[in-house]
Amino acid sequence: MSYPITRLRRLRGTSALRQMVKETVLTVNDFIYPIFVTYGENIKSEIPSMPGVYHLSMDRLKTEIDAVVASGVKSVLLFGVPETKDEVGSSAYDPNGIVQEATRAIKSWAPELVVVADTCLCAYTEHGHCGVIHHHPVTGAADVNNDASLELLVKTAISQAEAGADIIAPSNMMDGFVHAIREGLDAAGYENVPIMSYSVKYASAFYGPFRDAAHSSPQFGDRKTYQMDPANLREAMREAESDVVEGADMLMVKPALAYLDVLRMLKEHFDLPVVAYNVSAEYSMVKAAAANGWIDERAVVLETLTGMKRAGADLIITYHALDAARWLREQ
Ligand code: PBG
Repeated sequence: MSYPITRLRRLRGTSALRQMVKETVLTVNDFIYPIFVTYGENIKSEIPSMPGVYHLSMDRLKTEIDAVVASGVKSVLLFGVPETKDEVGSSAYDPNGIVQEATRAIKSWAPELVVVADTCLCAYTEHGHCGVIHHHPVTGAADVNNDASLELLVKTAISQAEAGADIIAPSNMMDGFVHAIREGLDAAGYENVPIMSYSVKYASAFYGPFRDAAHSSPQFGDRKTYQMDPANLREAMREAESDVVEGADMLMVKPALAYLDVLRMLKEHFDLPVVAYNVSAEYSMVKAAAANGWIDERAVVLETLTGMKRAGADLIITYHALDAARWLREQ
């Protein structure tokens, strides 16, 4: 009988030892908490496919912001559910639009809280696409026109910065959006407002519950002409490289769980902060299994978020943020 020289179990013997050799430590500073703001009064309605996540009208927002601040979470990501939609998403760049109003309010209540504004048109267009639709003059085929959409996204980003957004997060996946928005922000005097680019955003089935929440499902077709094919990895490098060249300050990978290899690759190749978006269906699947008593929600969530950080995430956008913050505190 020969005995092992290397015994990895030696450092696992007690809880204190395990704490000492822990390589990845999740903290409350890692989280960004998404919030859906809606028009109307006295609305706090739970999104059926996302238990624990709500549509909040402006008058109910303060309580939620107080809870975020009390949790220690440093940042929120705002999505708007507007009153009106049209062909060109006008309410996305309305200076008094829902996200702009919410941003102003949050900055007045909690100036230290970092407000990230999602810059996209899909929740504001009747057709639910992330840009302007053009029809081919002969075949009539519809597609999202890249450059016409850029102009509207730039307007949206500027109006968000004007309202006080600390970070602009464009999620529309048009080519050249970082460059266009950077130029627009700079020209408007917001050269110090960073861009968190949804650099690598896949055409994913994991956005389903979010589209219920944001009322942003495409009314025809899908998003595959602008979002990435889940099969592609090298193309993710090209997306990220172009965003870096165009002046992005942070790179995001979305969704997170099925794409941790992409996250890892970006982390190894770039020195910008890398952000993981733990998307809606990743959240809802955990909630559904937990509600059935099939998993230990707390353990699964903390393990998942730790996995994202271990894979390379400097920041994690997650609907679990407030729960996770509480669990970390209790630990
Ligand atoms: C779109 C946008 C999407 C999400 C955030 N911004 C997805 C989409 O409909 O393409 C998804 C977030 C989630 O699923 O949690 N601009």
